[in-house]
Amino acid sequence: MKFLPTSLLILALAIAIDFAFDLSPLQDFCVAINDPEVFVNGKFRKDPKQVTADDFLFEGFRYPGNTANLLRSKVTPAFVHQSQGLNTLGISIARIDFALGGLNPPHTHPRGTEILVVTEGTLLVGFVTSNQLNNTLFTKVLYKGDVFVFPIGLIHFQLNIGKTPALAFATLSSQNPDFITIANVVFRLKPPISADVLTKAFQVDKKVVDYLQAQFWYDNN
Ligand SMILES: *[C@@H]1O[C@H](CO)[C@@H](O)[C@H](O)[C@H]1NC(C)=O
Repeated sequence: MKFLPTSLLILALAIAIDFAFDLSPLQDFCVAINDPEVFVNGKFRKDPKQVTADDFLFEGFRYPGNTANLLRSKVTPAFVHQSQGLNTLGISIARIDFALGGLNPPHTHPRGTEILVVTEGTLLVGFVTSNQLNNTLFTKVLYKGDVFVFPIGLIHFQLNIGKTPALAFATLSSQNPDFITIANVVFRLKPPISADVLTKAFQVDKKVVDYLQAQFWYDNN
């Protein structure tokens, strides 16, 4: 009798772990169609008879992203919205271009672990652990060919510290990992988060909060 609850618990845990991230596919592919009228968890499936090789092709990485912006960086995502063949496959990719000094600012992906490979240039990268692990910074300088992992949900960044533009590709463990850019979600909101909240949270004067809220917070993705 004692075994039953334990094995059930293990099964429940296994199911919980299996379903914590993107679902496994139930067929060879499930190419998405965009239906803006209806909202479901994921995307509708295109008739498999209508699916062609083009549904698995994404040409958006052929040319560099436009880094002429405040951050001097540009993320070009190939998530399920851009590349419908990814639907249900639990994976996606992004191209990240960096001009000199370009920064991909601190952000998280709520639904994906990221593995980054540097194909040009030199990047200072890092992620910060959660509160239980004392918010420790794990940081490295990456050179061409180096690979680094950013665990799901953790805040991370990449900065071009080299003397040339830099280029990296990031694969993510979700068809739709999404982005939460820290500065933007705190300071860019309209209407804003109450200054009472921000002055206390950041332990600064209202003047500083007003200043930060008045800035232009660019979204590089
Ligand atoms: C985090 O800090 C606490 C308090 O100083 C310490 O007891 C604990 O070992 C630290 N944990 C890690 C993972 O460093």
